[in-house]
Amino acid sequence: MTNQASIGVTGLAVMGRNLARNLARHGHTVALHNRSEQRTRDLVERFGSEGEFIPTYSAREFVDALARPRQVVIMVKAGAPTDAVIEEFAPLLEPGDVIVDAGNAHFADTRRREAALRERGLHFVGTGVSGGEEGALHGPSIMPGGSKESYESLGPLFEDISAKVGGEPCCTHIGADGAGHFVKMVHNGIEYADMQLIAESFDLLRGALGYEPAQIAEVFRTWNTGRLDSYLIEITAQVLAHTDAATGKPFVDVVTDQAEQKGTGRWTVQIGLDLGVPISGIAEAVFARSLSGHADLRAASRGLPGPSRAKLSDAEGFADDVERALYASKIVAYAQGFNQIQAGGAEYGWDIDLGAVASIWRGGCIIRAKFLDDIRAAYAAEPGLPTLLTSGDFRAAVADAQDSWRSVVATAARLGIPTPGFATALAYYDGLRAERLPAALVQGQRDYFGAHTYRRVDREGTFHTEWATEERAEKPA
Ligand code: 6PG
Repeated sequence: MTNQASIGVTGLAVMGRNLARNLARHGHTVALHNRSEQRTRDLVERFGSEGEFIPTYSAREFVDALARPRQVVIMVKAGAPTDAVIEEFAPLLEPGDVIVDAGNAHFADTRRREAALRERGLHFVGTGVSGGEEGALHGPSIMPGGSKESYESLGPLFEDISAKVGGEPCCTHIGADGAGHFVKMVHNGIEYADMQLIAESFDLLRGALGYEPAQIAEVFRTWNTGRLDSYLIEITAQVLAHTDAATGKPFVDVVTDQAEQKGTGRWTVQIGLDLGVPISGIAEAVFARSLSGHADLRAASRGLPGPSRAKLSDAEGFADDVERALYASKIVAYAQGFNQIQAGGAEYGWDIDLGAVASIWRGGCIIRAKFLDDIRAAYAAEPGLPTLLTSGDFRAAVADAQDSWRSVVATAARLGIPTPGFATALAYYDGLRAERLPAALVQGQRDYFGAHTYRRVDREGTFHTEWATEERAEKPA
Protein backbone atom coordinates (compact mmCIF):
# COMPACT_ATOMS: atom_id res chain seq x y z
CA MET A 1 0.00 0.00 0.00
CA THR A 2 1.99 3.03 -1.14
CA ASN A 3 1.10 6.68 -1.44
CA GLN A 4 -2.40 6.42 -0.18
CA ALA A 5 -2.60 8.46 2.97
CA SER A 6 -2.79 12.24 2.76
CA ILE A 7 -1.33 12.52 6.24
CA GLY A 8 0.17 10.28 8.92
CA VAL A 9 0.13 10.45 12.71
CA THR A 10 2.85 8.93 14.85
CA GLY A 11 2.33 8.85 18.61
CA LEU A 12 -1.11 7.47 19.26
CA ALA A 13 -1.69 8.30 22.91
CA VAL A 14 -5.02 10.01 23.42
CA MET A 15 -4.18 13.35 21.71
CA GLY A 16 -2.58 11.70 18.68
CA ARG A 17 -5.34 9.13 18.46
CA ASN A 18 -8.06 11.76 18.57
CA LEU A 19 -6.36 13.95 15.95
CA ALA A 20 -6.04 10.90 13.68
CA ARG A 21 -9.72 10.05 14.21
CA ASN A 22 -10.75 13.64 13.54
CA LEU A 23 -8.80 13.62 10.25
CA ALA A 24 -10.33 10.28 9.22
CA ARG A 25 -13.83 11.42 10.15
CA HIS A 26 -13.33 14.31 7.73
CA GLY A 27 -12.62 11.90 4.90
CA HIS A 28 -8.81 12.02 4.94
CA THR A 29 -6.91 8.78 4.74
CA VAL A 30 -4.60 8.61 7.74
CA ALA A 31 -1.49 6.47 8.14
CA LEU A 32 -0.95 5.37 11.72
CA HIS A 33 2.21 4.58 13.61
CA ASN A 34 3.13 4.12 17.23
CA ARG A 35 6.19 2.83 19.04
CA SER A 36 4.18 0.04 20.64
CA GLU A 37 2.15 -1.74 17.96
CA GLN A 38 -0.72 -2.48 20.30
CA ARG A 39 -1.89 1.16 20.29
CA THR A 40 -2.09 1.13 16.50
CA ARG A 41 -4.06 -2.14 16.43
CA ASP A 42 -6.28 -0.84 19.19
CA LEU A 43 -7.16 2.33 17.31
CA VAL A 44 -8.09 0.42 14.17
CA GLU A 45 -10.08 -2.18 16.12
CA ARG A 46 -12.08 0.36 18.08
CA PHE A 47 -12.43 3.22 15.63
CA GLY A 48 -11.62 1.72 12.23
CA SER A 49 -15.18 2.25 11.04
CA GLU A 50 -14.89 6.03 11.43
CA GLY A 51 -12.82 6.48 8.26
CA GLU A 52 -9.83 5.29 6.25
CA PHE A 53 -6.82 4.31 8.33
CA ILE A 54 -3.62 2.67 7.15
CA PRO A 55 -2.03 0.98 10.16
CA THR A 56 1.73 0.60 9.83
CA TYR A 57 4.24 -1.15 12.04
CA SER A 58 7.59 0.31 11.08
CA ALA A 59 8.90 3.77 10.26
CA ARG A 60 9.61 2.66 6.68
CA GLU A 61 6.13 1.23 6.18
CA PHE A 62 4.63 4.45 7.63
CA VAL A 63 6.60 6.73 5.33
CA ASP A 64 5.80 4.56 2.30
CA ALA A 65 2.10 4.81 3.02
CA LEU A 66 2.10 8.59 2.59
CA ALA A 67 1.29 10.55 -0.56
CA ARG A 68 3.83 13.24 -1.55
CA PRO A 69 4.59 15.72 -0.20
CA ARG A 70 4.51 13.48 2.84
CA GLN A 71 2.95 15.01 5.93
CA VAL A 72 3.96 13.41 9.20
CA VAL A 73 2.31 14.60 12.41
CA ILE A 74 4.29 13.84 15.54
CA MET A 75 2.28 13.74 18.74
CA VAL A 76 4.71 12.71 21.44
CA LYS A 77 6.02 14.22 24.69
CA ALA A 78 7.80 17.56 24.25
CA GLY A 79 11.59 17.53 24.62
CA ALA A 80 13.90 14.59 23.97
CA PRO A 81 11.14 12.21 22.75
CA THR A 82 10.30 14.69 19.97
CA ASP A 83 13.94 14.89 18.86
CA ALA A 84 14.16 11.09 18.89
CA VAL A 85 11.08 10.69 16.68
CA ILE A 86 12.29 13.40 14.28
CA GLU A 87 15.60 11.55 13.93
CA GLU A 88 13.75 8.32 13.31
CA PHE A 89 11.72 9.73 10.40
CA ALA A 90 13.76 12.55 8.86
CA PRO A 91 16.29 10.21 7.14
CA LEU A 92 13.41 8.41 5.42
CA LEU A 93 11.82 11.58 4.05
CA GLU A 94 12.55 13.55 0.87
CA PRO A 95 12.95 17.27 0.16
CA GLY A 96 9.59 19.02 0.32
CA ASP A 97 8.12 16.61 2.88
CA VAL A 98 6.63 18.08 6.03
CA ILE A 99 7.10 17.09 9.66
CA VAL A 100 4.55 18.56 12.05
CA ASP A 101 5.12 18.71 15.79
CA ALA A 102 1.67 19.11 17.32
CA GLY A 103 2.83 18.80 20.94
CA ASN A 104 3.40 21.61 23.45
CA ALA A 105 7.03 22.25 22.44
CA HIS A 106 9.01 25.28 23.54
CA PHE A 107 9.16 27.64 20.55
CA ALA A 108 12.96 27.93 20.87
CA ASP A 109 13.22 24.15 20.32
CA THR A 110 10.92 24.51 17.36
CA ARG A 111 13.13 27.22 15.87
CA ARG A 112 16.19 25.01 16.33
CA ARG A 113 14.49 21.98 14.76
CA GLU A 114 13.06 24.00 11.89
CA ALA A 115 16.48 25.42 11.01
CA ALA A 116 18.13 21.99 11.15
CA LEU A 117 15.47 20.30 9.03
CA ARG A 118 15.39 23.17 6.53
CA GLU A 119 19.07 22.42 5.89
CA ARG A 120 17.98 18.93 4.96
CA GLY A 121 15.26 20.24 2.62
CA LEU A 122 12.42 19.32 4.95
CA HIS A 123 9.65 21.56 6.26
CA PHE A 124 9.20 21.51 10.00
CA VAL A 125 5.95 22.89 11.30
CA GLY A 126 5.61 23.51 15.04
CA THR A 127 1.89 23.62 15.63
CA GLY A 128 -0.04 24.69 18.67
CA VAL A 129 -3.13 22.57 19.24
CA SER A 130 -5.53 23.57 21.96
CA GLY A 131 -8.70 22.04 23.28
CA GLY A 132 -7.54 18.95 25.11
CA GLU A 133 -8.68 15.45 24.17
CA GLU A 134 -12.20 16.47 23.24
CA GLY A 135 -10.97 19.33 21.11
CA ALA A 136 -8.54 17.11 19.24
CA LEU A 137 -11.43 14.84 18.33
CA HIS A 138 -14.24 17.30 17.67
CA GLY A 139 -12.37 20.40 16.51
CA PRO A 140 -9.40 22.07 18.19
CA SER A 141 -7.96 25.52 17.69
CA ILE A 142 -4.85 25.00 15.57
CA MET A 143 -1.85 27.36 15.45
CA PRO A 144 0.65 26.22 12.80
CA GLY A 145 4.02 27.91 12.35
CA GLY A 146 6.62 26.97 9.73
CA SER A 147 6.98 27.98 6.10
CA LYS A 148 4.16 29.43 4.00
CA GLU A 149 4.82 26.67 1.50
CA SER A 150 4.12 23.94 4.04
CA TYR A 151 0.81 25.60 4.88
CA GLU A 152 -0.31 25.21 1.26
CA SER A 153 -0.61 21.44 1.68
CA LEU A 154 -1.20 21.27 5.41
CA GLY A 155 -3.52 24.26 5.84
CA PRO A 156 -6.57 22.81 4.08
CA LEU A 157 -6.39 19.62 6.17
CA PHE A 158 -5.97 21.45 9.44
CA GLU A 159 -8.65 24.02 8.63
CA ASP A 160 -10.96 21.15 7.81
CA ILE A 161 -10.57 19.45 11.21
CA SER A 162 -10.42 22.60 13.33
CA ALA A 163 -13.31 24.09 15.29
CA LYS A 164 -15.53 26.46 13.32
CA VAL A 165 -17.07 29.70 14.52
CA GLY A 166 -19.66 31.22 12.23
CA GLY A 167 -18.33 28.92 9.51
CA GLU A 168 -14.77 30.21 9.89
CA PRO A 169 -12.04 27.70 10.76
CA CYS A 170 -10.13 28.15 14.01
CA CYS A 171 -6.83 27.64 12.22
CA THR A 172 -4.53 30.06 10.45
CA HIS A 173 -0.88 30.18 9.45
CA ILE A 174 0.67 32.10 12.36
CA GLY A 175 4.13 32.80 10.99
CA ALA A 176 7.54 31.27 10.26
CA ASP A 177 9.44 28.66 12.30
CA GLY A 178 8.42 28.80 15.99
CA ALA A 179 5.58 31.35 15.68
CA GLY A 180 2.86 28.72 16.15
CA HIS A 181 4.35 27.33 19.32
CA PHE A 182 5.04 30.85 20.59
CA VAL A 183 1.39 31.80 20.17
CA LYS A 184 0.28 28.52 21.80
CA MET A 185 2.61 29.30 24.72
CA VAL A 186 0.99 32.71 25.20
CA HIS A 187 -2.43 31.06 24.88
CA ASN A 188 -1.50 28.88 27.82
CA GLY A 189 -0.16 31.86 29.78
CA ILE A 190 -3.47 33.64 29.26
CA GLU A 191 -5.22 30.39 30.25
CA TYR A 192 -3.34 30.51 33.58
CA ALA A 193 -4.28 34.17 34.15
CA ASP A 194 -7.92 33.59 33.26
CA MET A 195 -8.15 30.56 35.59
CA GLN A 196 -6.51 32.51 38.42
CA LEU A 197 -8.94 35.43 38.05
CA ILE A 198 -11.90 33.07 38.08
CA ALA A 199 -10.48 31.30 41.15
CA GLU A 200 -10.05 34.65 42.93
CA SER A 201 -13.68 35.52 42.12
CA PHE A 202 -14.76 32.25 43.73
CA ASP A 203 -12.60 32.94 46.77
CA LEU A 204 -14.07 36.44 47.14
CA LEU A 205 -17.67 35.27 46.85
CA ARG A 206 -17.02 32.60 49.42
CA GLY A 207 -14.77 34.58 51.75
CA ALA A 208 -16.55 37.92 51.70
CA LEU A 209 -20.14 36.78 51.24
CA GLY A 210 -20.01 33.32 52.79
CA TYR A 211 -21.59 31.70 49.69
CA GLU A 212 -21.40 27.92 49.37
CA PRO A 213 -19.81 26.41 46.24
CA ALA A 214 -23.23 25.40 44.83
CA GLN A 215 -24.44 29.01 45.16
CA ILE A 216 -21.28 30.27 43.49
CA ALA A 217 -21.85 27.78 40.69
CA GLU A 218 -25.18 29.53 40.11
CA VAL A 219 -23.46 32.92 40.04
CA PHE A 220 -21.01 31.65 37.42
CA ARG A 221 -23.83 30.15 35.42
CA THR A 222 -25.50 33.54 35.31
CA TRP A 223 -22.25 35.27 34.38
CA ASN A 224 -21.84 32.78 31.58
CA THR A 225 -24.97 34.14 29.92
CA GLY A 226 -23.38 37.60 29.60
CA ARG A 227 -20.12 39.13 28.44
CA LEU A 228 -18.06 36.59 30.43
CA ASP A 229 -19.53 33.74 28.35
CA SER A 230 -16.60 31.33 27.99
CA TYR A 231 -15.57 27.72 28.28
CA LEU A 232 -13.60 28.36 31.48
CA ILE A 233 -16.57 30.01 33.25
CA GLU A 234 -18.83 27.20 32.06
CA ILE A 235 -16.61 24.41 33.42
CA THR A 236 -16.01 26.37 36.64
CA ALA A 237 -19.77 26.32 37.30
CA GLN A 238 -19.79 22.58 36.72
CA VAL A 239 -16.81 21.90 38.98
CA LEU A 240 -18.34 24.02 41.76
CA ALA A 241 -21.72 22.31 41.47
CA HIS A 242 -20.14 18.86 41.79
CA THR A 243 -20.54 16.95 45.06
CA ASP A 244 -17.95 14.40 46.13
CA ALA A 245 -19.59 10.98 46.14
CA ALA A 246 -17.44 9.58 48.94
CA THR A 247 -18.04 12.35 51.50
CA GLY A 248 -21.07 14.26 50.26
CA LYS A 249 -18.99 17.44 50.53
CA PRO A 250 -18.53 19.98 47.72
CA PHE A 251 -15.92 18.49 45.39
CA VAL A 252 -13.83 21.67 45.58
CA ASP A 253 -13.44 21.14 49.34
CA VAL A 254 -11.97 17.65 49.08
CA VAL A 255 -9.32 18.56 46.51
CA THR A 256 -5.85 19.47 47.79
CA ASP A 257 -5.37 23.21 47.35
CA GLN A 258 -2.02 22.97 45.56
CA ALA A 259 -2.23 23.82 41.86
CA GLU A 260 0.21 22.05 39.58
CA GLN A 261 1.63 23.05 36.23
CA LYS A 262 3.36 21.38 33.36
CA GLY A 263 5.42 24.42 32.47
CA THR A 264 3.92 26.39 29.59
CA GLY A 265 2.77 29.21 31.91
CA ARG A 266 6.25 29.40 33.37
CA TRP A 267 7.75 29.58 29.88
CA THR A 268 5.42 32.46 29.03
CA VAL A 269 6.67 34.42 32.02
CA GLN A 270 10.33 33.61 31.35
CA ILE A 271 9.97 34.82 27.77
CA GLY A 272 7.97 37.84 28.91
CA LEU A 273 10.94 38.80 31.09
CA ASP A 274 13.37 38.26 28.21
CA LEU A 275 11.28 40.40 25.89
CA GLY A 276 10.69 43.05 28.56
CA VAL A 277 6.91 42.76 28.30
CA PRO A 278 5.05 43.32 31.59
CA ILE A 279 2.77 40.29 31.57
CA SER A 280 2.09 40.70 35.27
CA GLY A 281 -1.30 38.93 35.16
CA ILE A 282 0.24 35.75 33.80
CA ALA A 283 3.20 36.04 36.18
CA GLU A 284 0.95 36.40 39.23
CA ALA A 285 -1.04 33.39 38.09
CA VAL A 286 2.13 31.29 37.85
CA PHE A 287 3.33 32.56 41.24
CA ALA A 288 -0.07 31.88 42.81
CA ARG A 289 0.20 28.23 41.71
CA SER A 290 3.73 28.14 43.04
CA LEU A 291 2.71 29.65 46.41
CA SER A 292 -0.12 27.15 46.71
CA GLY A 293 2.36 24.32 46.27
CA HIS A 294 4.64 25.39 49.13
CA ALA A 295 2.90 23.29 51.76
CA ASP A 296 5.60 23.62 54.43
CA LEU A 297 5.94 27.37 54.01
CA ARG A 298 2.17 27.75 54.21
CA ALA A 299 1.92 25.52 57.28
CA ALA A 300 4.64 27.54 59.01
CA SER A 301 2.85 30.80 58.17
CA ARG A 302 -0.72 29.81 59.02
CA GLY A 303 -0.69 31.57 62.40
CA LEU A 304 0.44 34.94 61.04
CA PRO A 305 -1.94 37.72 62.09
CA GLY A 306 -4.66 38.73 59.66
CA PRO A 307 -7.17 41.59 59.60
CA SER A 308 -9.70 42.00 62.39
CA ARG A 309 -12.66 41.92 60.01
CA ALA A 310 -13.40 38.68 58.19
CA LYS A 311 -16.75 39.33 56.49
CA LEU A 312 -18.19 42.12 54.45
CA SER A 313 -20.47 44.48 56.35
CA ASP A 314 -22.29 45.68 53.25
CA ALA A 315 -22.78 42.76 50.89
CA GLU A 316 -25.21 44.61 48.63
CA GLY A 317 -24.11 44.43 45.02
CA PHE A 318 -20.78 42.79 45.86
CA ALA A 319 -21.24 39.86 43.47
CA ASP A 320 -21.91 42.32 40.63
CA ASP A 321 -18.79 44.26 41.63
CA VAL A 322 -16.78 41.04 41.39
CA GLU A 323 -18.19 40.40 37.92
CA ARG A 324 -17.01 43.84 36.82
CA ALA A 325 -13.61 43.39 38.46
CA LEU A 326 -13.24 40.03 36.77
CA TYR A 327 -14.12 41.45 33.37
CA ALA A 328 -11.74 44.40 33.70
CA SER A 329 -8.90 42.19 34.97
CA LYS A 330 -9.51 39.77 32.15
CA ILE A 331 -9.20 42.57 29.59
CA VAL A 332 -5.83 43.46 31.15
CA ALA A 333 -4.60 39.84 31.09
CA TYR A 334 -5.48 39.48 27.42
CA ALA A 335 -4.07 42.91 26.57
CA GLN A 336 -0.77 41.87 28.13
CA GLY A 337 -0.77 38.51 26.32
CA PHE A 338 -1.45 40.11 22.94
CA ASN A 339 1.33 42.62 23.59
CA GLN A 340 3.65 39.71 24.25
CA ILE A 341 2.73 38.17 20.90
CA GLN A 342 3.38 41.52 19.25
CA ALA A 343 6.79 41.75 20.97
CA GLY A 344 7.67 38.15 20.05
CA GLY A 345 6.73 38.89 16.45
CA ALA A 346 9.00 41.93 16.38
CA GLU A 347 11.89 40.04 18.01
CA TYR A 348 11.75 36.98 15.80
CA GLY A 349 10.59 38.58 12.57
CA TRP A 350 7.11 37.05 12.47
CA ASP A 351 4.36 39.05 10.89
CA ILE A 352 1.60 37.92 13.25
CA ASP A 353 -1.93 39.10 12.60
CA LEU A 354 -3.28 39.65 16.12
CA GLY A 355 -6.88 39.83 14.90
CA ALA A 356 -6.46 36.43 13.24
CA VAL A 357 -5.07 35.01 16.49
CA ALA A 358 -8.12 36.30 18.38
CA SER A 359 -10.30 34.85 15.67
CA ILE A 360 -8.89 31.30 15.89
CA TRP A 361 -9.13 31.39 19.69
CA ARG A 362 -12.88 31.97 19.49
CA GLY A 363 -13.52 28.24 19.22
CA GLY A 364 -11.93 24.92 20.08
CA CYS A 365 -9.34 26.11 22.58
CA ILE A 366 -9.38 26.30 26.37
CA ILE A 367 -9.71 30.10 26.46
CA ARG A 368 -12.50 30.19 23.89
CA ALA A 369 -14.91 32.97 24.75
CA LYS A 370 -17.41 35.38 23.32
CA PHE A 371 -15.00 38.10 24.39
CA LEU A 372 -12.45 37.01 21.75
CA ASP A 373 -14.83 38.20 19.06
CA ASP A 374 -14.57 41.67 20.59
CA ILE A 375 -10.77 41.41 20.53
CA ARG A 376 -10.90 40.40 16.90
CA ALA A 377 -13.13 43.38 16.15
CA ALA A 378 -10.79 45.71 18.04
CA TYR A 379 -7.79 44.67 15.91
CA ALA A 380 -9.88 44.78 12.74
CA ALA A 381 -10.85 48.38 13.52
CA GLU A 382 -7.30 49.37 14.43
CA PRO A 383 -4.57 46.91 13.39
CA GLY A 384 -1.81 48.96 15.05
CA LEU A 385 -3.61 49.14 18.41
CA PRO A 386 -0.92 49.68 21.10
CA THR A 387 -3.01 47.90 23.75
CA LEU A 388 -6.51 46.47 23.87
CA LEU A 389 -7.20 48.84 26.74
CA THR A 390 -7.28 51.86 24.43
CA SER A 391 -9.73 50.35 21.95
CA GLY A 392 -13.16 51.99 22.14
CA ASP A 393 -15.30 49.18 23.56
CA PHE A 394 -12.75 47.94 26.08
CA ARG A 395 -11.93 51.44 27.19
CA ALA A 396 -15.61 52.04 27.86
CA ALA A 397 -16.04 48.68 29.62
CA VAL A 398 -13.13 49.37 31.95
CA ALA A 399 -14.32 52.91 32.61
CA ASP A 400 -17.67 51.47 33.60
CA ALA A 401 -16.11 48.71 35.73
CA GLN A 402 -13.38 50.63 37.45
CA ASP A 403 -15.21 51.78 40.59
CA SER A 404 -16.26 48.21 41.28
CA TRP A 405 -12.80 46.93 40.40
CA ARG A 406 -11.14 49.33 42.85
CA SER A 407 -13.63 48.55 45.57
CA VAL A 408 -13.19 44.77 45.13
CA VAL A 409 -9.40 45.04 45.37
CA ALA A 410 -9.72 47.29 48.43
CA THR A 411 -12.23 44.94 50.04
CA ALA A 412 -9.98 41.94 49.37
CA ALA A 413 -7.08 43.75 51.03
CA ARG A 414 -9.27 44.72 54.01
CA LEU A 415 -10.55 41.20 54.51
CA GLY A 416 -7.20 39.54 53.88
CA ILE A 417 -8.35 37.57 50.83
CA PRO A 418 -5.42 37.13 48.42
CA THR A 419 -6.25 38.52 44.97
CA PRO A 420 -2.90 38.87 43.20
CA GLY A 421 -4.52 38.65 39.77
CA PHE A 422 -7.09 41.42 40.36
CA ALA A 423 -4.59 43.63 42.17
CA THR A 424 -1.82 43.39 39.59
CA ALA A 425 -4.27 44.00 36.75
CA LEU A 426 -5.47 47.17 38.42
CA ALA A 427 -1.91 48.31 39.18
CA TYR A 428 -0.98 47.73 35.54
CA TYR A 429 -3.97 49.77 34.39
CA ASP A 430 -3.08 52.63 36.73
CA GLY A 431 0.57 52.35 35.76
CA LEU A 432 -0.24 52.66 32.07
CA ARG A 433 -2.50 55.66 32.47
CA ALA A 434 -0.26 57.56 34.92
CA GLU A 435 0.97 60.92 33.75
CA ARG A 436 4.21 60.50 35.72
CA LEU A 437 5.60 57.34 37.28
CA PRO A 438 8.00 57.13 40.22
CA ALA A 439 10.44 55.56 37.77
CA ALA A 440 12.05 59.03 37.71
CA LEU A 441 13.01 58.56 41.34
CA VAL A 442 14.38 55.08 40.61
CA GLN A 443 16.57 56.67 37.93
CA GLY A 444 17.79 59.20 40.50
CA GLN A 445 18.64 56.42 42.95
CA ARG A 446 20.50 54.50 40.27
CA ASP A 447 22.49 57.55 39.34
CA TYR A 448 23.30 58.27 43.00
CA PHE A 449 24.73 54.90 43.92
CA GLY A 450 26.06 53.69 40.60
CA ALA A 451 26.46 56.70 38.26
CA HIS A 452 24.04 54.90 35.96
CA THR A 453 22.97 58.25 34.39
CA TYR A 454 19.52 59.55 33.47
CA ARG A 455 17.75 61.47 30.76
CA ARG A 456 15.93 64.78 31.31
CA VAL A 457 12.42 65.73 30.32
CA ASP A 458 13.57 69.07 28.91
CA ARG A 459 16.84 68.34 27.07
CA GLU A 460 18.38 65.68 24.83
CA GLY A 461 21.26 63.56 26.07
CA THR A 462 22.25 61.54 29.14
CA PHE A 463 23.36 63.13 32.39
CA HIS A 464 25.01 62.33 35.66
CA THR A 465 24.88 64.29 38.88
CA GLU A 466 27.99 64.31 41.07
CA TRP A 467 26.18 63.32 44.23
CA ALA A 468 29.32 63.08 46.40
CA THR A 469 30.19 66.75 45.93
CA GLU A 470 28.70 69.68 47.75
CA GLU A 471 27.57 71.36 44.50
CA ARG A 472 25.85 68.27 43.10
CA ALA A 473 26.87 69.48 39.68
CA GLU A 474 25.19 67.92 36.69
CA LYS A 475 27.30 66.88 33.73
CA PRO A 476 26.50 65.38 30.35
CA ALA A 477 27.46 61.72 30.59
C1 6PG B 1 -4.78 23.37 25.79
C2 6PG B 1 -4.11 23.35 27.15
C3 6PG B 1 -3.10 22.28 27.28
C4 6PG B 1 -2.27 22.36 28.56
C5 6PG B 1 -3.04 22.05 29.78
C6 6PG B 1 -2.20 21.79 31.00
O1 6PG B 1 -4.67 24.40 25.18
O2 6PG B 1 -5.41 22.39 25.38
O3 6PG B 1 -3.46 24.56 27.32
O4 6PG B 1 -2.25 22.40 26.19
O5 6PG B 1 -1.25 21.43 28.46
O6 6PG B 1 -3.95 23.04 30.02
O7 6PG B 1 -1.54 22.89 31.50
P1 6PG B 1 -0.94 22.89 32.98
O8 6PG B 1 -0.75 21.46 33.39
O9 6PG B 1 0.36 23.60 32.88
O10 6PG B 1 -1.95 23.56 33.82
